[in-house]
Amino acid sequence: MRGGYDSRMDTVPSVDAVAHAFSEPVAGLEPGVLLHRSRHADTVRGRWHGLEVVAKRVREDIADDDERLGAGHGILREGLLLRRIDHPSIVRVVDIVHQPATLVLELVPGKSMRDELKLRRRMPAVEAARVGAQLADALDHLHRRWILHRDVKPANIIYDGYRAVLIDFHLAKEPGAMRGGAGTRLFAAPEQVQGGHVTTAADIWGLGTVLYRAVSGRLPFHADTGHPQLTTRPVPVLGRLATARYGGDLERAEQDLPSDFAMLIDRMLSFDPDRRPTADEVAGQLATMVDDDVLAS
Ligand SMILES: Nc1ncnc2c1ncn2[C@@H]1O[C@H](COP(=O)(O)OP(=O)(O)O)[C@@H](O)[C@H]1O
Ligand SMILES: [Mg+2]
Repeated sequence: MRGGYDSRMDTVPSVDAVAHAFSEPVAGLEPGVLLHRSRHADTVRGRWHGLEVVAKRVREDIADDDERLGAGHGILREGLLLRRIDHPSIVRVVDIVHQPATLVLELVPGKSMRDELKLRRRMPAVEAARVGAQLADALDHLHRRWILHRDVKPANIIYDGYRAVLIDFHLAKEPGAMRGGAGTRLFAAPEQVQGGHVTTAADIWGLGTVLYRAVSGRLPFHADTGHPQLTTRPVPVLGRLATARYGGDLERAEQDLPSDFAMLIDRMLSFDPDRRPTADEVAGQLATMVDDDVLAS
């Protein structure tokens, strides 16, 4: 961990952090308030030739030259990959600046799902299904192009009550053999934590954690350290909702969360990646539930 920051914690930046972010000018960009600082990047709101945007650029305070160069390459890679993609639920690139390495993105309206769920605690099933259907469609779009996001979690989704948008492609790559450990501690699929052959099913796990959190108000796993997803199974989501809200009464929980939806979420969190549904299947099932008007609102 560098400079006291941990990319996984979505730390609130201090005033000091704002002062040196973006001190090196980027032609055409008027930087505004700092939104987020992670290990490798600072993300600010700003104006790009008059247009409201978000700019993500390599942190200027990374002292080690190789590390700074690596972080810059990562940001350019993220931009080049995003430029190949066009989907309503995937963030769009406005421009890519090479020096200093900066990614200029559309400003997506709304809040991160992490902040949204902190405020609201949970979402009605029908709203979670709509959000899930949009994101599953985005994942299907990526997976058909042989791209694995690898960091699907509430902090990497922006939502304004209508449109849910997947952001933060800095870990995205093609499925296949990879080293373990990349991703966010409590959200990464077990096989991604362990390393080995990682398939598109790892993103389904990530979306499963988001839906589990949205409908039950609780994360599937919690522990202050380590990787509980390697050694424990999450409590089935209906059971978790029943305990959290209805004194353990499953029937009352099922009025909020029909068992078809609950079973789908539980399947998305199967330890065995082969047992998880595909993005296409998740999108289809959720869209049908929304259309059939079977979910509580
Ligand atoms: N296009 C965007 N529109 C609005 N907010 C954004 C956008 N991109 C990023 N953000 C905000 O900045 C934060 C960090 O961006 P992200 O791409 O996740 O960076 P990092 O790789 O540092 O985690 C997000 O959690 C979100 O709150
Ligand atoms: Mg992020």
